[in-house]
Amino acid sequence: MLCNCAKALLQPVLVNTSKTPFRKYTARRALMYVPASDDKKVAKAFATNADCITLDCEDGVALNKKVQARLNIRELLEKGKPARKRRYELVVRVNSIASGFIKDDLRVILTAPHLPDSIYLPKVEQIDQLKIFSDYLNEYIKKNAKLGLILGIESAVALLNVVDICKEAVNMSETSKFQPAALLFGSDDYCASIGARRSESSSEIIYARQKVISVARAFNLQAIDMVYIKYQDLKGLKKQAEEGARWGFTGKQIIHPGQIDVTQEAFSPTSAEIEWASGVLKAFHKHQKEGEGAFAYKGNMIDMPTMKQAQNIMDLSNAIMIEK
Ligand code: COA
Ligand code: MG
Repeated sequence: MLCNCAKALLQPVLVNTSKTPFRKYTARRALMYVPASDDKKVAKAFATNADCITLDCEDGVALNKKVQARLNIRELLEKGKPARKRRYELVVRVNSIASGFIKDDLRVILTAPHLPDSIYLPKVEQIDQLKIFSDYLNEYIKKNAKLGLILGIESAVALLNVVDICKEAVNMSETSKFQPAALLFGSDDYCASIGARRSESSSEIIYARQKVISVARAFNLQAIDMVYIKYQDLKGLKKQAEEGARWGFTGKQIIHPGQIDVTQEAFSPTSAEIEWASGVLKAFHKHQKEGEGAFAYKGNMIDMPTMKQAQNIMDLSNAIMIEK
């Protein structure tokens, strides 16, 4: 007898991403968690240059501090999004649908006079959780608003259902108060769910990380990589962040201000990459005019796919320049 999840795996999945809207780039190279119950850390976070500050009500907050966490966010949103010289995204990570805390989180936070830019919904596993989430938004947000939605993919079931979750989120975004923005891979919860033992190389989660990237990109969403928990080891962080960026992740979760610069740099194109990309694009257009689809550039063959990679680098570089 097959369980529902196994049956879902056997269904043909037809994906039509044509409804996926074009989105303006929002930098989430370093999504920094800040336990919202900790006033000192919250104040400190807004003095950093992290491009995505995530006030946490979920697993970084002790059970007996859940009420305090949501009240602190409410107090902050009474005054509005804290001003900072450099643009940033303000995200709130609420508790999961299954937790029993989310309704109170959203009621306290979303009835404030100002809203966060995005909500990060952790541990999404089933499409009907999106409907519950959307109903809460309709209940508590009285004005015309569209919040970004970051979806936490953190278990074997979530990974099995991730295509359906994205399809549903994109479909619902036409009529709901959220707009899906990113998939985020929760490695520690995922490892717990599959019974993996952690290793230095993280080879046990290569499949899951890469699946999250491919599905996110198929739906024109950002893909946000795992946390590097040894927060004082910047060398190890750099290695893992650069690996994630090479694979196609657009950013990474971080837990400490000391991790911001290394992470943001890893998810930004280097000056050598920008120089290469702009050279390739110029040469490509010249050769196209001359009727040559493939040509040599600095010892490498360049054709349409390489041109697209160069265009990705230039798009990211231009978007980051605008954000500054
Ligand atoms: N956001 C804002 N400020 C932070 C911070 C964070 N995530 N992590 C540390 N800081 C601050 C500290 O308060 C301290 O401030 P101070 O210099 O004014 O005293 C400074 O940065 C240096 O911190 P440090 O002493 O090195 O670390 P710590 O022992 O205070 O905290 C952790 C270590 C891991 C407990 C802390 O970084 C943390 O709580 N991170 C978030 C964890 C989390 O949210 N987990 C859930 C998601 S995976
Ligand atoms: Mg998690």
